[in-house]
Amino acid sequence: MVKLHSVYMPPRDELMPELENLLYSGYIAEGPKVKEFEETFSNFIRIPSYAVSSCTAALHLALILSGVGPGDEVVSTPMTAEPTNVAIHMAGARVRWADVDPTTGNVTPQSVDEAVTENTKAILVVHYGGIPVQKIYDSTLPGVFVIEDCAHALGSEGIGWGDIQSWSFQAIKHFTTGGEGGMLSNRMVLDESQIRSLRWFGIDREKSRTTVDVKEHGWKYNMTDVQATFGLAAMRHLPQNIKRIKSNGWILEQALSRVPGLQVYQSGGHVPSYLFYTVLAERRDDLAKKLTEAGIGCGQVHRRNDEHTVFAYAKRELPGLDEYWKHMLHIPCGWWLGEQDLDYIERTIKSGW
Ligand SMILES: Cc1ncc(COP(=O)(O)O)c(C=O)c1O
Repeated sequence: MVKLHSVYMPPRDELMPELENLLYSGYIAEGPKVKEFEETFSNFIRIPSYAVSSCTAALHLALILSGVGPGDEVVSTPMTAEPTNVAIHMAGARVRWADVDPTTGNVTPQSVDEAVTENTKAILVVHYGGIPVQKIYDSTLPGVFVIEDCAHALGSEGIGWGDIQSWSFQAIKHFTTGGEGGMLSNRMVLDESQIRSLRWFGIDREKSRTTVDVKEHGWKYNMTDVQATFGLAAMRHLPQNIKRIKSNGWILEQALSRVPGLQVYQSGGHVPSYLFYTVLAERRDDLAKKLTEAGIGCGQVHRRNDEHTVFAYAKRELPGLDEYWKHMLHIPCGWWLGEQDLDYIERTIKSGW
């Protein structure tokens, strides 16, 4: 079986002593390990970052920090996991769909431009599957923040250009902080103390608890030292895992670029840090059946979000998404794949479907 998703666990002899030390240290909530993890992650992506309990929490806070509230619209993509768009409702706002490029599943600057209205308060883009969304600064309005949902794209080049980024360390992402976890990053505009407050009821834990003033309420979105200990151990192996993902992606790109009835992303050598690899196939369901029968994990992974009842009010024509949705199939590409797996995927696809 070649798995489509896998959970990365750091070597037992590294993780367990660190975890055990922490668990019996008498301090397991948010503390020095979270700080160390934030610093490590910030250095890795080169953007100041703040640890939170999930990417959904980061998205919610990113929207709040962008000034999004009831009555506002957020331009977003329907081709994503539900949390991207549920977070918009959590902030009290409504979604407005931008169409996607039928070859990548990503929104384009043009599709965002078309979707923007006078009620637009933020733009939320997703680097779907790890493929970077083209920078859309030129298409934005003054005062409208661009939030990047980077849950699929840790390690991809060409991301991090927006105002705020959200990251996921849920179980099957590039690495995990023990099942759940996330990060919010921001290069310049926001007040650090406000971010720290919003993730903990409205209180900045760095200030004195007995004199601090809660000026606006926040949420219980902080990370614990237990999660951060997982994260620190996993991050030591992250560069080599990302390298492996990219080299697997490059091998698949070379192998599958000229297969009749199949189309793959042309990276031009800037291989994304794919969370999964996407092929666009004629008679996609037949290919999916063939791969499944051969023991190769594959699937569409997410349902296009515009089909959910909760977003019915936002329904509109999305011809780019219709095309992408008809042909797209996600296949494995992760750090857990070896040469034999890649060769098996190539041979199975090339034998026809
Ligand atoms: C694109 C995308 N955004 C956001 C999320 C939410 O991440 P989390 O589970 O860390 O809240 C996910 C989770 O799968 C995702 O795939």
